[in-house]
Amino acid sequence: MTLVRFISADGSRIVEVDAKPGERVLEIAQTHDQPLEGVCEGQMACSTCHVIVAERHAALLPRPSVEEEDMLDFAWGASRHSRLACQLYTAADMPELEVRMPGAAVNMQSR
Ligand code: FES
Repeated sequence: MTLVRFISADGSRIVEVDAKPGERVLEIAQTHDQPLEGVCEGQMACSTCHVIVAERHAALLPRPSVEEEDMLDFAWGASRHSRLACQLYTAADMPELEVRMPGAAVNMQSR
């Protein structure tokens, strides 16, 4: 199991969820009322699933693809540890994953 911790943009709200290996972070977030629209449903075409991964967990994740990095260039408030939740999956060797909401989102599909 992975303990997935969602932190609101201002840090005031924390939601912790146990997830099985192989679960997609976007679906976990949506199931637990996190503000990630995921408009393009994982096609890497919207950036509305942008999250900021805790620094201590960022290096444990597989590197983002070129397509993911390109889409993150358009994400609101993107930082060095930004990822698309539609491209993140829990894993058996990942006991914990902490992500913060960016506070706003840009839907590249509506541009
Ligand atoms: S759901 Fe659109 S980029 Fe992730």
